[in-house]
Amino acid sequence: MGSREIRKKFLDFFQERGHSIVPSSSLIPNDPSLLLTTAGMQQFKPYFTGELNPISDFGSRRTASIQKCFRINDLEEIGDNTHLSFFEMLGNFSFGPIGKDDPEHFGKDGYFKKSAIIWAYQFITKTLDVEPERISVSIFGGYADSRLRISKDEESRRIWLEEVGIPAEKITGRGREDNFWGPTGSEGPCGPTTEIYIDGVEVWNLVFNEYYCRTGGGEEKLEKLENPGVDTGMGLERLTAVLENQEDVFSTDLFQPITSKILELTRIQDNRLIRIQGDHLRAASFLIADSLRPENKGAGYILRRLLRRILAYQIKYDIHQGLAEETVKIVSQQYSPFYPELRDTKTIVKVMEDEEAAFQKTITKGLEELNKFSSLDGSQAFHLYETFGLPFELIKEFARPETIKNLNREEFEKEFITHQEKSRQGAEKKFGGHGLFLDTGELKALDKKEYEKVVSLHTVTHLLHQALRDVLGQ
Ligand code: SER
Repeated sequence: MGSREIRKKFLDFFQERGHSIVPSSSLIPNDPSLLLTTAGMQQFKPYFTGELNPISDFGSRRTASIQKCFRINDLEEIGDNTHLSFFEMLGNFSFGPIGKDDPEHFGKDGYFKKSAIIWAYQFITKTLDVEPERISVSIFGGYADSRLRISKDEESRRIWLEEVGIPAEKITGRGREDNFWGPTGSEGPCGPTTEIYIDGVEVWNLVFNEYYCRTGGGEEKLEKLENPGVDTGMGLERLTAVLENQEDVFSTDLFQPITSKILELTRIQDNRLIRIQGDHLRAASFLIADSLRPENKGAGYILRRLLRRILAYQIKYDIHQGLAEETVKIVSQQYSPFYPELRDTKTIVKVMEDEEAAFQKTITKGLEELNKFSSLDGSQAFHLYETFGLPFELIKEFARPETIKNLNREEFEKEFITHQEKSRQGAEKKFGGHGLFLDTGELKALDKKEYEKVVSLHTVTHLLHQALRDVLGQ
């Protein structure tokens, strides 16, 4: 079964069960606490907390979506069998209050563990036809430290065991790191999870948002949510790989056309290299289509690193220069039926080429400079970044192994942050502490046009604030 069929079956299955299908939100989130969209639940946060009403917005307390997501811990991980920076996540959601938690009941009210678990199992074993013997699951086993106690998710265990009929030895209890989902470093809905594995590969994460996680005052507190919710997520690439019996996500029908094109144009034999190009070119296309542009900070810096890594490899291995253009065309053909924003390949390619042109000027010199070092520490690496625009992972990739023996990311990041802090202070001084560039830090990256835009937005924000004060009071 290919990815196209999986998409359709997933949405049909949940639509039949009262879910409204909601389009993916942009990869650039509205939520200022996030750089990029990492999960399907993000666009639904205000419905979990009760700030917005799902009935007025979706006509149902149940939604389903296929969400564009971007996650990276470490760019260097990409190139193996499983890591991707961009991926799509299939998800179904319920916003409380719970009505009938009955999987036979196809209404529009909120549901909880029983329906979520039984539907997930039915979808995998009946709709996708996966043999029940291949399935195992995990549940939240409980957590306690001196301040916080969260009880084991007995209810999910009971449902798997008694209602679904999963043998006890195939239900594992796991700790907080694995089976409890919540916002990292910020506040939000959170709760225990149950995960579904096919042949030992995790495919589906079902989160039961029972709590609201408060982090104020440095102390963590969980409060029971008045209306519990369901948030599930299943990576399309990984699921497709499992169903197509492929060892890795790059061999699926989602990547095949992209990787074959790269192979055809470059004739490179190195699998890792093809995967890096494939992953980065696909991810960058999606980010640019959502209006992100390369910058020296925030999400734009992530895009910049992707683009520079693509280019650095192309230079090092003397790869065909038209690669980006040809590959973006394939990405667009493949994905624009689902994401019309990918139709405009001209803009995507233009952004890539502009970045290429800017980087090309310095990279050769930068690599030459890098070669002069016999050993490199964090601050020297940062200097190479600052002067020649060489991101950390490129330094690691292109330096001789003995040169980077003592180089670690933390030290580099520390330099980076110190530098940003300095330029932030500089900007603040220059603008009389006015706050204009407070969270950009990188004043020198702004051109005149962008500057003027920020100034007008800033002024309009003042006007809006004043208007609100006039109407609502201080
Ligand atoms: N939010 C959860 C995750 O990202 C489930 O969708 O895994």
